[in-house]
Amino acid sequence: MKSVWVINGPNLNLLGVREPGVYGSQGLQNIEDALRKQAESAGIEITFFQSNHEGAIIDRIHEAMGQADGILLNPGALTHYSYAVRDAISSVNIPTVEVHLSNIHARESFRHISVIAPVCVGQISGFGANSYALGFMALMNVLERPHS
Ligand code: DQA
Repeated sequence: MKSVWVINGPNLNLLGVREPGVYGSQGLQNIEDALRKQAESAGIEITFFQSNHEGAIIDRIHEAMGQADGILLNPGALTHYSYAVRDAISSVNIPTVEVHLSNIHARESFRHISVIAPVCVGQISGFGANSYALGFMALMNVLERPHS
């Protein structure tokens, strides 16, 4: 059975409460419950992790080595400046899909850059909570490719 690790970065624990006009009204728990159902029907094992600490996210990415077949990652604001998270993703060599609830390209200019996206298989941005479902589908597609 393939295994997908979902990793959420800073402030995503506050989804539902935090700027609902930008991020929607669903809490992280809801998003995780929906992903769990999606994974169950696809026959994929799924685990969830959220931290507000860059180092804890890096540790979790390292732990994925030899355990996860794919990573679904919303790095939060770390997206825009964390070379350390980027290096962690490129170090573990696990296919990763970057997801964002908001369309980072339509927001403040500092959000237009993702330092993580170049080491990911792709980025999904702007579909609210549905970005996670779309990201999961994209990741499954990558995992189904021969030799992945
Ligand atoms: C976010 C976008 C980031 O710019 C922001 O810092 C977040 C959430 C999103 O999911 O839209 O924390 O990653």
